[in-house]
Formats: sequence, C-alpha cells, structure tokens
Amino acid sequence: MRLPTRHLLGIENLHPRDISALLDLAESYALLNRSGKTRRDVLRGRTLINLFFEDSTRTRTSFELAGKRLGADVINMSVSTSSVSKGETLLDTAATLNAMNCDLLVVRHKASGAPALLAQKVDAAVINAGDGMHEHPTQALLDALTIRRHKGTLAGLTIAICGDIAHSRVARSNILLLIAMGSQVRVVGPPTLIPSGIEQFGVSVFHDMREGLRDADIVMALRLQTERMSGGMIPSAREFFTFYGLDAAKLAFARPDALVMHPGPMNRGVEIDSQVADDTTRSVIREQVEMGVAVRMAVLDVLARTALRNA
Ligand code: NCD
Repeated sequence: MRLPTRHLLGIENLHPRDISALLDLAESYALLNRSGKTRRDVLRGRTLINLFFEDSTRTRTSFELAGKRLGADVINMSVSTSSVSKGETLLDTAATLNAMNCDLLVVRHKASGAPALLAQKVDAAVINAGDGMHEHPTQALLDALTIRRHKGTLAGLTIAICGDIAHSRVARSNILLLIAMGSQVRVVGPPTLIPSGIEQFGVSVFHDMREGLRDADIVMALRLQTERMSGGMIPSAREFFTFYGLDAAKLAFARPDALVMHPGPMNRGVEIDSQVADDTTRSVIREQVEMGVAVRMAVLDVLARTALRNA
C-alpha cells in the first residue's frame, strides 16, 4: 500500500481506502505481536526519533516499542518548552534532526500545526502524535482497529463520543475517521465543551447522556483537557461526573453489547467510573493500548516504504 503523502499529519487527508489498508496491516501486526514473533528487517538501519514537547505515556512508549519491534534505532527526546519560544525551538530542532539523518520523526506538541511546520523543514517522514486541539491520527486508527475487531466493521455503527469534545484532538481525529468509514457519530457533553457548528462534520449533538447513549454500539469517554481550557468550562469535576461521567446507570441506555472505550489517561470518578472502566466484559481500554503498538507498527512500516519509493 502507499499513502497519498510522505507524512501522517492527520486523518483529514486519508481516503477510506488508505484507512482500511492501514487497519488491515495493523491487524496482521496485532496477530504477529500476540504470537511473540518480530520482523526486525522492516526498519533495519532506519532511525526513528520520538520528539515529545508534551507529556505522554502510552503514545511515546508504543511508538518506541513499535520502532524497536521493526528493527529501527529509536531515540527519545523530551523537550521542555518552558523557556524558549515555540517557533525558535521547532526550527532549531528541525535543523538539528536533519543533521542526524533521521528517517521517521514522531512529534507531539501543544501547538496545532507544529508537526505540519516540521514536515516542511525536515527530510524525515513526520508522524503527528498529537498537536494541540487539532489531530491525533494514530489514536483514531487504534480506536478504529479495536472497534473493528469486536464489531467486524465500522460502517453503520452508532458511536457516542462523550465529554470534552471542544479541546480534544482525539475526538477530532475519531470524528473524521469514523464519518469517513460510514459510522453514525454522536457527540455528548455540556454546551461549553462542544464546539458550535460541529454538526457540519456530520455528527449529531446531545447534551444529555441518556439520549446520547441510547442504543449506541460504542461509548467513548474523554478526559477533560484542563490544560487547554481557559477556565470556567465546568462548574466542578464532581458535578461533571454526575451529569456526564460514564457509570453503569448511564451505560445501561446503550446497547447491551456496547463497548466502553477511553484513550487514557483516565480520570476515574470524573469522566468515567472505575466499575465501568474495569469491567472487562464491556471495557476494551486495555486492548486499545495493545492495538496502539500494532497500529504504530503499520504506520511506520508504510511511511518507511513510501519514503523508499520516493527516494
Ligand atoms: C490523549 C492525548 O494526548 O490527546 N492521550 C493519548 O494519546 N492516549 C488523550 C488525553 O490526553 O486525554
């Protein structure tokens, strides 16, 4: 398979055909990972740099594991932006990384568009690992793979994405991917946390969890992105939990076989109740993490091949 671009900056530029092909490849990596086998030849001799300007647990470690499983040399760079202006840091860093002949550059940054800017300045293939409130494409792909493994398809499913939609790059990438693949997407949350005009993406908006979750196949809870809020968006975490926290009583409105998802990190007792999060008959949160490695292996594999073809 080949991607339309050298980089993976968002779901926006992907055709449903590309998404399906990436998910198929990721599925084969998921099976390989479970069998304990590796394919270290795929990225042998390639250098992968993880450049994280924002905190991360799952995303950074899974890109590291994915790169290592495919045989790449992996370097982790955690950069503090506290004292240097964003533009300077990024452009200086780009020059440094170019000098290191890096092949694959995984970037997380609090500014939307930072990975796209870097992509213009470096020779490496750039992968967006989350940029501000904009996109987090590999998260949407791993969510889609997890759903597809349980439900067999994405088309025709009703998927409720709940909580802080306004500040969430996970919500944005998921909406773009799921709508492209034919799912019915609902966003559920208080008016302050749902951007006005979001209906133009093809989603329906709900402010009541019972209505939003009714007969849903998938319920996805999202963390309140307090680091991106300018204050006063919710009265209190406790009140938020009462109205929008995913607990057994609210989940009962979804289909009996509805899956519970969360990208992590979870704030238990805020957007999700522990009982629901830890109920392995409903919650696929751990499997999302497992699929994260497989999806990132697929993305690294495809981008490395695309780069070779273009070289
Ligand atoms: C998400 C992120 O960074 O956007 N985390 C992740 O990658 N799994 C979600 C979040 O931080 O709430």
